[in-house]
Amino acid sequence: MRDEIDHASAHGAAGAAGGDVHGGTDRGIHLHHRDFLTDAANLPDGSIDLIVADPPYGLGKDYGNDSDMRSGDAFLDWTYGWLDLAIPKLKPSGSLYIFCTWQYAPEIFVFLKRRLTMVNEIVWDRRVPSMGGTVRRYTSVHDNIGYFAVSKDYFFDLDPIRIPYDAVTKKARSRKLFEGSKWLELGYNPKDVWSVSRLHRQHAERVDHPTQKPLEIIERMVLASCPRGGRVLDPFMGSGTTAVACARHGREFVGYEINADYHAIAEKRVAETGSVGVRVEPKSETTDTAVDQASAA
Ligand SMILES: C[S@@+](CC[C@H](N)C(=O)[O-])C[C@H]1O[C@@H](n2cnc3c(N)ncnc32)[C@H](O)[C@@H]1O
Repeated sequence: MRDEIDHASAHGAAGAAGGDVHGGTDRGIHLHHRDFLTDAANLPDGSIDLIVADPPYGLGKDYGNDSDMRSGDAFLDWTYGWLDLAIPKLKPSGSLYIFCTWQYAPEIFVFLKRRLTMVNEIVWDRRVPSMGGTVRRYTSVHDNIGYFAVSKDYFFDLDPIRIPYDAVTKKARSRKLFEGSKWLELGYNPKDVWSVSRLHRQHAERVDHPTQKPLEIIERMVLASCPRGGRVLDPFMGSGTTAVACARHGREFVGYEINADYHAIAEKRVAETGSVGVRVEPKSETTDTAVDQASAA
């Protein structure tokens, strides 16, 4: 039995019974309580517009499993392994964002540059408050996000993510020269440093996941890099932030999570978006432990 929530998305795609569970013909939002590495083969190649990957970083975080306990070459080999499984899922116009840290970004980016076209390195400034910090080096307050595309013809829609100017700034740029400029009227292109606070307990969107990403960041990726009605893959969905972004913005979604509690949180968050047609499949017979063992193999 599989464990997934099948959530017909807001743009009206039916959560069809039958058809291919993971891709192909079965539309909507699919949250799999499964290991991406052992399940990826069920996802058709060339079926995905956008991959948003926020994997274990190799820093020893406790996700209720040992998935983040690899370090050094073992971590990099594991990363290369799942990337080799994920990349063929992309359409020719598809693209991939991968969250990582400065410790491993150089190797991961070199690996990806041999397979894909690098579009950007985005720096997520987590807006960590200054409170002393480390004493033998500079305090690290950012995550590195690699943005890669299958080809130079990748999908990118700037308008939904433009940042509007406030009235004062707009007025200050109202010289004749700028009149009628789209960037002045609709807003400017976000730069490659994204300054968005990490989630604290007091943030309304915060749930019980240690590395939950702010919706604002993921929504920007989904809106810019997946066409409406397109399909997004999140191989390590955690609390389901990418799924929520897709449910809110009419994109289809397929995601994987090995921790049953996080998978349940993702289900709840997607249901709370209020999109129509939620269908919850019976619980998986696969236990977390079994999934962990499969993942470690
Ligand atoms: C960095 S977190 C993702 C956080 C997510 N972006 C969010 O906003 O909540 C990585 C997640 O991947 C899960 N995970 C680790 N190995 C996995 C695997 N092989 N397949 C599926 N999920 C996995 C972990 O349990 C963890 O919840």
